[in-house]
Amino acid sequence: MNYSKASLLDLFALGQLEEACFPTEAFSRRLIKNLLVSANAVVFKATEPTAGIIGNIIGTTKKENSSSVGRIFSLCVLTVHRKHGIATRLVQLLEEEFRLRDIRKIRLEVSVRNDIARAFYERLGYHTTSNILPHFYYDGADAMVMRKYLS
Ligand SMILES: CC(C)(COP(=O)(O)OP(=O)(O)OC[C@H]1O[C@@H](n2cnc3c(N)ncnc32)[C@H](O)[C@@H]1OP(=O)(O)O)[C@@H](O)C(=O)NCCC(=O)NCCS
Repeated sequence: MNYSKASLLDLFALGQLEEACFPTEAFSRRLIKNLLVSANAVVFKATEPTAGIIGNIIGTTKKENSSSVGRIFSLCVLTVHRKHGIATRLVQLLEEEFRLRDIRKIRLEVSVRNDIARAFYERLGYHTTSNILPHFYYDGADAMVMRKYLS
């Protein structure tokens, strides 16, 4: 497995990956393109020699008061490649990138219906906050906000 930053050359493959992972609310190609070229976003991809891009993570950064906050905006690994530690590695890479950018606080949203993702993030040290975002997703589900402070 190879892990690296994605570029505009990956736009089509990332669009396909998003659609496979999030059939009802995949990011549009336009949004992915904007994220790929933004200085306030970073996209890592996991590439398998024969299958191409099989996972990705999108992080964004934002100034809040005097410090910057990182956000895990999207994380996806294709079904057949799950449970092999790929998402764990992608989160680690993004956390390293956030550290390089002097970001110590990371936030993410996860659907209240997505027990797998919640367990996944908890294992990596993310904590559920009391902040619930009602009807955050297209299917009407609420989002839980999770947070981690990097040491
Ligand atoms: C959540 C997701 C990214 C995890 O990817 P992954 O590559 O399978 O994750 P990892 O192999 O790194 O899993 C690490 C740990 O997470 C937990 N976990 C992952 N998948 C799990 C599952 N199906 N059931 C229970 N726990 C699970 C386990 O603790 C696992 O550790 P273990 O393998 O030692 O048991 C993947 O399931 C996915 O793409 N889901 C669809 C999209 C999504 O929900 N994204 C996150 C919200 S934006």
